[in-house]
Amino acid sequence: MPISTKPLTGSDFVVEVSGIDLSESQDAETIAALRTALGKHSILVFRQQSLTNEQQIAFSRNFGELEIHLVRQYLMPEHPEIIVLSNVGAGGVKPTANGGAYWHSDISYRAKPPLGSLLYGVEVPPEGGNTLFANMYGAYDTLSDDLKNKVDGRKAVHSYLGRFMAMRDRDTSHKGEDKFELDEEQQESFPPVLHPIVRTHPESGRKALYVNDGFTIGIEDMDEDDGKALLRKLNIHATRDPLLYSHAWQPGDVVFWDNRSTMHCATSYDPVHTRTMHRTTIQGDTPY
Ligand code: OGA
Ligand code: MN
Repeated sequence: MPISTKPLTGSDFVVEVSGIDLSESQDAETIAALRTALGKHSILVFRQQSLTNEQQIAFSRNFGELEIHLVRQYLMPEHPEIIVLSNVGAGGVKPTANGGAYWHSDISYRAKPPLGSLLYGVEVPPEGGNTLFANMYGAYDTLSDDLKNKVDGRKAVHSYLGRFMAMRDRDTSHKGEDKFELDEEQQESFPPVLHPIVRTHPESGRKALYVNDGFTIGIEDMDEDDGKALLRKLNIHATRDPLLYSHAWQPGDVVFWDNRSTMHCATSYDPVHTRTMHRTTIQGDTPY
């Protein structure tokens, strides 16, 4: 059966894909169709999947090499391609309270940030714990002329450590979050990088805003305070309601998002419930 897509929002941001079992091997035509759909829609939702670790890795590899995250404490020991986000700890990985509860695009602090990520809901709470997504094509398209002029052709600084320090300084509730406990080698593996603030999606050809609250810490050749103020404005603009999709997880959901044209943010839930998610991350190219 060929795959079919059904929009989940009023726009073409986010489609549910049916007619595909991700545990099976896929032909080149199906992968090409999914790749095109990702560039067009930014978020692909697959329901009622049942995946072993090997199957999630194999399906993800159809789209490129997989990223092995530098913060190794959340990687599955037997399968370092899988990051485990779980409030109870699972698969030999220690628990993390609220990983990703800030607006970000995964690993944007690398010179070649990932093309996309696949998150598999293994065990999810009955309510809450949604993942919010922001449409960064839409964010660029709806920028005022004034803001467009300010950002066109400019670059922003992305850093994992910048986020670590900023969050620690400004929000003490993050003090206990163990994601911030980086050893020196890990700290040295995160030098700041520059990326264009407006990037062109290599497949769709569309422009997307490419800054995020989590990892973008300044703007090249701009005074620090002015840069931070502009970044704040851009983030507020990009996370307005009409640009958002909130994914309410059911067990067996796989959400495949495009990191080049979206940001995402985890939301809270009652911690008496277990939430265990498995993520694979597909390597991408230098943004332009
Ligand atoms: C991620 C992430 C958010 C969530 O897996 O990259 O940010 O809702 N997850 O679990
Ligand atoms: Mn993330």
